[in-house]
Amino acid sequence: MARPHQQPILINGGRVIDPANGRDGVFDVLIVDGAIKAVERSIPTDGLDGDVRVIQAGGLVASPGFIDIHAHLREPGYEYKETIATGAEAAVRGGFTTICAMPNTDPAIDNAAVVDYIANRAATVPARVRAIGCVTKGRKGRELADMEELITAGVVAFSDDGDPVYDAGLMRLALTYSRDLGVPVSNHCEDHELCPGGVMAEGWVSSRLGLAGIPAVAEEAMVARDISLAQLTGGRLHLAHLSSAGSVAMVRQAKERGIPVTAEVCPHHLMLTDAWALGGKGDPNVAAGPFAYDTHTKVYPPLRTDTDVAACVAGLADGAIDCVATDHAPHERVSKECTYHEAAFGISALETALGTAMTAVHSGAVSLPTMVARLTAGPARVLGNGLSQFASLTPGTPADLALFDPDATWTVDVSKFASMGRNTPLNGVELRGRVAVTIVGGRVVFEEPALLNKGDAA
Ligand code: NCD
Repeated sequence: MARPHQQPILINGGRVIDPANGRDGVFDVLIVDGAIKAVERSIPTDGLDGDVRVIQAGGLVASPGFIDIHAHLREPGYEYKETIATGAEAAVRGGFTTICAMPNTDPAIDNAAVVDYIANRAATVPARVRAIGCVTKGRKGRELADMEELITAGVVAFSDDGDPVYDAGLMRLALTYSRDLGVPVSNHCEDHELCPGGVMAEGWVSSRLGLAGIPAVAEEAMVARDISLAQLTGGRLHLAHLSSAGSVAMVRQAKERGIPVTAEVCPHHLMLTDAWALGGKGDPNVAAGPFAYDTHTKVYPPLRTDTDVAACVAGLADGAIDCVATDHAPHERVSKECTYHEAAFGISALETALGTAMTAVHSGAVSLPTMVARLTAGPARVLGNGLSQFASLTPGTPADLALFDPDATWTVDVSKFASMGRNTPLNGVELRGRVAVTIVGGRVVFEEPALLNKGDAA
């Protein structure tokens, strides 16, 4: 039976960065029937089907679509914050073609029925959506979830994110199973006892603002514990949203010792510091004024110091950190229109992720190909589970791509977000690096015409 016709696409003259294949140079990319057909120096349009769409990509980078292994899509249960559909729309605007949904939903993703529900809801959205299953039943930290049932249902990782796996004995068991099942356990490292009531990083800014602090050791103590457990069990430990210099150093050292650990950092921890809570867009010399206590700066883990930002950036550059993950955490307005202590933790990050992460490239600390690797092949390698087919431009693989202008400047305007979560401290801030086109399975699911004014011959 004939398949529905899909218009072939020729991406012409872009800088192709395909870390999985070690490719970086100007190439044409031909997409036919949803798959990469060819990547060559020059693919002439004359031998091609007449209705081919040509995207003139001069000045743009063409890379595999970005893969986000840490997003909160809020469905089921919190559809007033985000739905799978709005989250997926936000994803493709940010260049993400695959997003992995964290299980702090209601009900939590701790059984096959919820995984099936998510798969059904995701069937018609523009991005690929994968579910992450709970480590413990109901994310309550008392009893392991049925990890085998969840894997059979299709989860790509386990996590109780939003909360740590607090009980070291349960974490040991989960890591032991993860070794045999070949699927990582992604832990949200936070020792509650070390930060009771904490709402921002413990330091001079929290003192000046009179806010309860979260010391870096609240993260680092659990990172240390988990690395020891990974060494003991040989399990697949992944450390979610690392934010402190001490954590990055421990992961680097663990890798040198051959311990099976991987780690992610979030775009905001590559750019923003706790000084943003003073209300001067990060200027530490601003006396706390009318814009101080901006609840949009409240996120878990908290924004920390310049030293921590530099360490996260350096970890990304040298491979101590495997990938960038957004921790997209959309919230409804009232969750943020309240006091700093009452506000929910979280930043809506999918649509600003590239521009935020690119600050590390524009500063010269991370090369552009390395940043692309940390958004594509890196996260795919962390999860395994067949995601690598979406993380390269290898002929025959599904055509998932992001085309972006690494130098385009734009001003964040939350009123234009596709995400229902408008909670970001970056509203009104100029970022450099913007997505022009996103392609999933050979279909253009997002395009920004202003960035395609270089002779698109569609
Ligand atoms: C996350 C959320 O809102 O689900 N919030 C956040 O600040 N990262 C959960 C979490 O990791 O705490």
